[in-house]
Amino acid sequence: MKILFVGDVYGRTGREMIEQYLPKLKSKYQPAATIVNAENAAHGKGLTKKIYQKLLEVGADMLTMGNHTWDNREIFEFIDEAKQLVRPANFPAGTPGSGLRYIELPHGVKVAVINIQGRVFLPSLDDPFRIVRQLVDEAHKRTPIIFVDVHAETTSEKLALGWYLDGSVSAVIGTHTHVQTADERIFPKGTAYLTDVGMTGPYNGIIGVQRAAVTKRFLTSMPVRFESEDGPGQLGAVLIQVDESTGKSSKIDRLLINEDHLFFE
Ligand SMILES: [Fe+2]
Repeated sequence: MKILFVGDVYGRTGREMIEQYLPKLKSKYQPAATIVNAENAAHGKGLTKKIYQKLLEVGADMLTMGNHTWDNREIFEFIDEAKQLVRPANFPAGTPGSGLRYIELPHGVKVAVINIQGRVFLPSLDDPFRIVRQLVDEAHKRTPIIFVDVHAETTSEKLALGWYLDGSVSAVIGTHTHVQTADERIFPKGTAYLTDVGMTGPYNGIIGVQRAAVTKRFLTSMPVRFESEDGPGQLGAVLIQVDESTGKSSKIDRLLINEDHLFFE
């Protein structure tokens, strides 16, 4: 079976890219499960109920989040009922929502989806290594197919989590930096790995944000308002081939769609 994972949907441009290309990607690659990181889907910050529903409608089976999970406060109204949404599992105990949920496929097949957040250059949360290990052990009781979205800033922390989970999960895929890395591989014990899947949003922004605002902040160190950049979009994704009975991965392919990397149906 194949798992398709689409990276950080950023604002309106990201949502338009998803609406335009997710159905085409699904018809071309026929993934059994489709997962989308949506923590920047509402104007770059968080998620609304309407966008949650829209992303599911256009083909996502599960949404993952990250450090912007709480930025749109509408999330508090629906996160506990949102069975197709995971937020970082290492928020403190008692936080609304869940860091582990299951995609239920035909014939009783389940895909466990775990979201975990790094601690380097991000707010201090519970230890992602220990929490993810607990959740992986819990998920193994129900399925060998486990997908982990590591939402983190540094390559070293993501790579460490990838190696730490090799052989225990089907895939460890990084999000958050919005720039796709070219280090996709299958680790020796069958875990697919990619440091960052890349963003789905404005191609000509700076990780999605208006160039002028970001440049001004670097030049002046003054606070600026971050808005989404206009213009063409891009989509970053990854396709993973997983053995349904063992949960081991055998193949991982990056996908990138933008003006410089055209999509062919
Ligand atoms: Fe993030």
